[in-house]
Amino acid sequence: MSIYFFLFFLLSLSTALDDCTSTTSKCSDDGPPIRFPFRLKNQHPPHCGYPGFDLSCSPNNTTTVLDLPNSVKVLVTHIDYKSRLIHIKDPNGCFPRQLQNLNLSTTPFNFPDSMDYFVVNFGLFSCPPSTKMEGYYWPYEKGHTYRVTCLRGGDGRDVYFLDNSSSIAYIPELISCRKMYNVWSVPYDVFDETADLQLQWLQAPDCGKCETDGKFCRLMRNGTSEEILCFGNLNPPKKDSVHNFRIFSCLAAKPNFPNCGSCLNGNVHVMSGEMTIQ
Ligand SMILES: *[C@@H]1O[C@H](CO)[C@@H](O)[C@H](O)[C@H]1NC(C)=O
Ligand SMILES: *[C@@H]1O[C@H](CO)[C@@H](O)[C@H](O)[C@H]1NC(C)=O
Ligand SMILES: *[C@@H]1O[C@H](CO)[C@@H](O)[C@H](O)[C@H]1NC(C)=O
Ligand SMILES: *[C@@H]1O[C@H](CO)[C@@H](O)[C@H](O)[C@H]1NC(C)=O
Ligand SMILES: *[C@@H]1O[C@H](CO)[C@@H](O)[C@H](O)[C@H]1NC(C)=O
Repeated sequence: MSIYFFLFFLLSLSTALDDCTSTTSKCSDDGPPIRFPFRLKNQHPPHCGYPGFDLSCSPNNTTTVLDLPNSVKVLVTHIDYKSRLIHIKDPNGCFPRQLQNLNLSTTPFNFPDSMDYFVVNFGLFSCPPSTKMEGYYWPYEKGHTYRVTCLRGGDGRDVYFLDNSSSIAYIPELISCRKMYNVWSVPYDVFDETADLQLQWLQAPDCGKCETDGKFCRLMRNGTSEEILCFGNLNPPKKDSVHNFRIFSCLAAKPNFPNCGSCLNGNVHVMSGEMTIQ
């Protein structure tokens, strides 16, 4: 059987290095760039991301979605790869509505716990609208109402959040309230609809060094451990001096090559690199 072997160069401005960094890596122009340890579920194969870091785009590609256990969905507005933080918000502008189902224990994420962003266990109470609940709970100033403004308790009742140890013994106003449920290890900002919420990831491979060097990051393919490899260039060089090239070798008689399809009827093997144009 004869083999048809074609080679051609394709000058392109993309930083196409492999199937993880060559396809779209944003949901929208102003969305966060998505790269290892994250991947876009429908566009990158599983090896491009680390388990638990799958993101997807909303159906109209306007937002970046992170699915958490128990059908909790958050939008990812920013990814800080160096500090390993994602900035999130609720798709419907009311994160407290999802708190009852929020359980991060099987995910790589948790709320960072620091001096100015501490996490607490809260109890949620359903109280008559006239309830005055002021000045009980640190860290708020006296006069804060502790009311969850985007939730209603049913029967026209309001919802209040207090330290989970709060009880009628300390707070007489709670006498006409009903404890609804506890929420665990969240910052008090989750009740503030305007707050910039953040989740951190500490377990996954640390790509901070690659990011600092302006490089992509991935797991070493030969490694058994979680060793990472820095490669490529996050900020490609100016287009006048250097172009990236891709070589497609089409082997009509050799099936099972990756990236088939874009080369007539042949199967395609893609190599990439950089070339200086004089
Ligand atoms: C995208 O879809 C969401 C609902 O999924 C909708 O609220 C939003 O307005 C849509 N945006 C555009 C630009 O169509
Ligand atoms: C969203 O983006 C995907 C991948 O780029 C594309 O296939 C799809 O058609 C887009 N959807 C809309 C509504 O633009
Ligand atoms: C969170 O999920 C884990 C694992 O499914 C479970 O063991 C734990 O009890 C859950 N925590 C809460 C507060 O429901
Ligand atoms: C409040 O949270 C702590 C720490 O998780 C727990 O030990 C305690 O039982 C909770 N208190 C109430 C009243 O639920
Ligand atoms: C994997 O390959 C890299 C170079 O590609 C090499 O530096 C490293 O030592 C290898 N690791 C193992 C565990 O073989």
